Amino acid sequence: MSKMPRILVVDDEEAMRESLNDWLKEDGYEVGLAAGGQEAIDMVRGEPWEVILLDLKMPGMDGLETLKHLKEVRPDAEILMMTAYATVDTAVQAMKEGAFDYLVKPFDPDEIEILIKKIVKQKELILENILLRKKLEERDQFDEIIGKSDAMQQIFELIKRVAPTDSTVLITGESGTGKELIAQAIHGNSGRCYMPLIAVSCGALPESLLESELFGYEKGAFTGAEHTKRGRFEMAHGGTLFLDEIGDISLKTQVDLLRVLQQKEFSRLGGEESIEVDVRILAATNRDLEKAIIENRFRKDLFYRLNVISIHVPPLRERKEDIPPLAKASVRKCCLELNKDEVNIAPSAMKLLVDYDWPGNVRELENVIERALVIGGGKEIAATDLPFTGREPVSEQLPKSLKAMEKIHIERVIEEADWNISRAARELGIDRQTLYNKIEKYEIKRG
Ligand SMILES: Nc1ncnc2c1ncn2[C@@H]1O[C@H](COP(=O)(O)OP(=O)(O)OP(=O)(O)O)[C@@H](O)[C@H]1O
Ligand SMILES: [Mg+2]
Repeated sequence: MSKMPRILVVDDEEAMRESLNDWLKEDGYEVGLAAGGQEAIDMVRGEPWEVILLDLKMPGMDGLETLKHLKEVRPDAEILMMTAYATVDTAVQAMKEGAFDYLVKPFDPDEIEILIKKIVKQKELILENILLRKKLEERDQFDEIIGKSDAMQQIFELIKRVAPTDSTVLITGESGTGKELIAQAIHGNSGRCYMPLIAVSCGALPESLLESELFGYEKGAFTGAEHTKRGRFEMAHGGTLFLDEIGDISLKTQVDLLRVLQQKEFSRLGGEESIEVDVRILAATNRDLEKAIIENRFRKDLFYRLNVISIHVPPLRERKEDIPPLAKASVRKCCLELNKDEVNIAPSAMKLLVDYDWPGNVRELENVIERALVIGGGKEIAATDLPFTGREPVSEQLPKSLKAMEKIHIERVIEEADWNISRAARELGIDRQTLYNKIEKYEIKRG
């Protein structure tokens, strides 16, 4: 409904029609006039009147009867009854039949104006509500997460059950299995979905940086702290905080984090004031935290805090039936990004995809598909477009020097890890700093 709805006045008294006509037109409304019930019904059939001012007592078809017909013809029109003091009871009856409200004669223009504004406001709210609900239903279907396998179906069920609660969820699984996607689905299906989902990649930052990222800092807290900065906990207030790569945080940060989770309040670095937050925590890791606990690298108490509900995403090789739909979805996504017509996957290529072990899981699958689309260029992804057809195409051109080999190998691992340095370092079996040094030494660059 527009802010200036079209108004139909229905009254048998000509003087009343004329004065309402003058008032409303003066206020800028478009006005129609009907002298009786039947005329009103005919007019409403022909044109979309949005608000109807309807007299209760009219000869012939009375207001109540007219109301019923009008509601049948235009259920979304809002009807305001006009009544004399003596017939207020009937007006109340009319509201039960679907009238929006009533006005007792004599009334002044301001009263009508207030009611019309109320109608417009209410219509807006209803519309907004419908839109929100539609959006929510769309999110509900997890249409971004693909998974036919029993394991994934069980995960969907679990997401549905835990999403609306405020429980902390720990999502575990190998790299590239879709943990972040699951965190997004939990947030998206929760009551917090209109508030922010704030993600922190805990493994990517050194200890001091991570702490200031999480908790923020006050101006002057350390050299370089020129302004007060809000941390991720504050930013996530009312929403969800996703602590990614939680297995990588230092023991000191573990202690600080535990305190916040227990007390639900914290202070910014260098700050006195304690800040209270309402935040739902989701965490993810590709590490074996139970093993880390035994090796004293992860605090048991923090683990129990995080692991209230646990969702384990199995590696792709343990749910091979998910590979074909994932591969197809990847093709669709890549073709869209590369602005290409969608191509098929040849059955022989699909067999290779299904048979392969996927150490890098869905992320690796996406990379393989993208590469096949770029290098293949045909109408179809053929087995020969895949990097694991048995022959190793790059091997003939491999350099002899160890240094050059090291550079190529590091580049590959970093690319495969999507430039997630801590993950690449882990896969290479070196620490992050060593990897940074090598990146600098070999001048390895993104892309
Ligand atoms: N079930 C799935 N359906 C569709 N896409 C998926 C699925 N699982 C993973 N992906 C896609 O694979 C990629 C990797 O997923 P994601 O980043 O969620 O993995 P992760 O488990 O968080 O990995 P890491 O531990 O390395 O951070 C993303 O592009 C994601 O969209
Ligand atoms: Mg992740």
